Amino acid sequence: MTAKRNWSNYAVLFLASLVLLTIWQMFYPPTELPDVPQYSKLTLYTNTSNYAYSLSSLPDTDYNQLINLNFSFNILNLVCNESSPLVIIMVHTSPKNFAKRKTIRETWGRYREKVKILFVLGAVKNITLEKKLIEENQNYSDLTQGSFMDTYRNLTYKHVMLFKYVIYHCPEAKYILKTDDDVFVNMPTMINFLTLDLSVYGAENLLFCTKRTNSRVMRTYRSKWRVSFSEYPGKNYPTYCPGWFLLYSQNVLFELYKAAQKSAYFWIDDIHLTGTLFKKLNLVHTDAEPFMVTPDELEQVVNNGGNITRPFLIGRPNLSEKQIRSLWNFVESNAVPKTILNEV
Ligand SMILES: *[C@@H]1O[C@H](CO)[C@@H](O)[C@H](O)[C@H]1NC(C)=O
Ligand SMILES: *[C@@H]1O[C@H](CO)[C@@H](O)[C@H](O)[C@H]1NC(C)=O
Ligand SMILES: *[C@@H]1O[C@H](CO)[C@@H](O)[C@H](O)[C@H]1NC(C)=O
Ligand SMILES: *[C@@H]1O[C@H](CO)[C@@H](O)[C@H](O)[C@H]1NC(C)=O
Ligand SMILES: *[C@@H]1O[C@H](CO)[C@@H](O)[C@H](O)[C@H]1NC(C)=O
Ligand SMILES: *[C@@H]1O[C@H](CO)[C@@H](O)[C@H](O)[C@H]1NC(C)=O
Ligand SMILES: *[C@@H]1O[C@H](CO)[C@@H](O)[C@H](O)[C@H]1NC(C)=O
Ligand SMILES: *[C@@H]1O[C@H](CO)[C@@H](O)[C@H](O)[C@H]1NC(C)=O
Repeated sequence: MTAKRNWSNYAVLFLASLVLLTIWQMFYPPTELPDVPQYSKLTLYTNTSNYAYSLSSLPDTDYNQLINLNFSFNILNLVCNESSPLVIIMVHTSPKNFAKRKTIRETWGRYREKVKILFVLGAVKNITLEKKLIEENQNYSDLTQGSFMDTYRNLTYKHVMLFKYVIYHCPEAKYILKTDDDVFVNMPTMINFLTLDLSVYGAENLLFCTKRTNSRVMRTYRSKWRVSFSEYPGKNYPTYCPGWFLLYSQNVLFELYKAAQKSAYFWIDDIHLTGTLFKKLNLVHTDAEPFMVTPDELEQVVNNGGNITRPFLIGRPNLSEKQIRSLWNFVESNAVPKTILNEV
């Protein structure tokens, strides 16, 4: 009973945030940056005459440029050339993470109906490693490697490269899901959510993610995530979403791509793209937090062979292989909720 009531609260919250978003933007029209397109509300498309990238608005040199670098794809698979997916999943991965990619391929990444999945990585100096990556790609044809070095200070290049891939090589995908190689996505439920709760034709102005507000800029000297004052002068970051789960609509991805290509480089990709640049588009994040597995639920499924008694879309960040496999086993052996907003 309580589980059910909780769930209806979540659905109401979600719908309420969509309505609030619309009303908010009616009364507080965007004021800054008049040169960017002004999006007022989230729209679910109802027919196929939807948004299409205007590639002609990009300079000819755009394909071979990544922010301030010369760029090319070292490994490229044209997975959308024969059929366009409802959703393309782009998984940030570190070159050495062979085992993590394998886990995803064997679990939720196996789900291929209406879905394409690619792993996204940068270049490596180690020739043995590169040979192994080429072999892995021969086996699975699911890597996308850019010509910049794969380092955490280069994360924003990685993220903008995946935008570039989608814009040039998978422009018909209705939704773009960006994740990391240690997360779990409940694919069967996600597909029902996208097609039945959102729209099979796609949406406009959607960034569905677990939003963070008032995050402090990390200044601790020993932290890997320390940011200097010259890199980012402010005390707090704008509202942004952690990069492990980001569901973009086409137009949001395209506008962020154009903004990123023109802007100064800032290396923390999720803050730069889903915070700083997103804010300039005067858009609002749609919060995915209610659709995430809680630590208790995770513990139940992984260690107690228990149940998650409400529909969910995503696991949690930084999952182990065991946790990913347990969640997948759970999803595979249970009925898939049809729609998750109308279930209450
Ligand atoms: C199709 O959708 C677009 C954008 O949502 C709208 O402007 C147009 O009127 C729609 N056309 C039809 C035939 O419904
Ligand atoms: C990019 O490539 C052009 C020629 O292809 C070269 O002149 C230029 O120096 C390169 N820029 C960088 C940053 O490597
Ligand atoms: C589409 O891509 C696949 C896989 O990369 C490839 O085998 C096929 O030849 C491509 N087809 C076209 C028409 O480019
Ligand atoms: C290069 O990559 C191989 C394969 O992953 C690894 O075994 C080796 O330790 C790496 N070498 C260095 C110097 O990092
Ligand atoms: C690729 O497949 C071959 C043959 O099945 C296997 O021996 C090899 O380990 C695989 N390599 C990678 C990197 O997946
Ligand atoms: C990022 O990639 C570029 C291009 O490969 C490289 O020159 C640079 O050293 C990398 N930056 C860092 C901080 O690793
Ligand atoms: C999980 O839920 C299903 C259906 O509600 C039930 O049949 C099953 O026994 C439950 N399993 C556990 C371990 O609680
Ligand atoms: C990720 O999870 C592991 C345990 O699975 C833990 O040791 C590590 O601290 C976690 N990292 C972060 C960044 O939360």
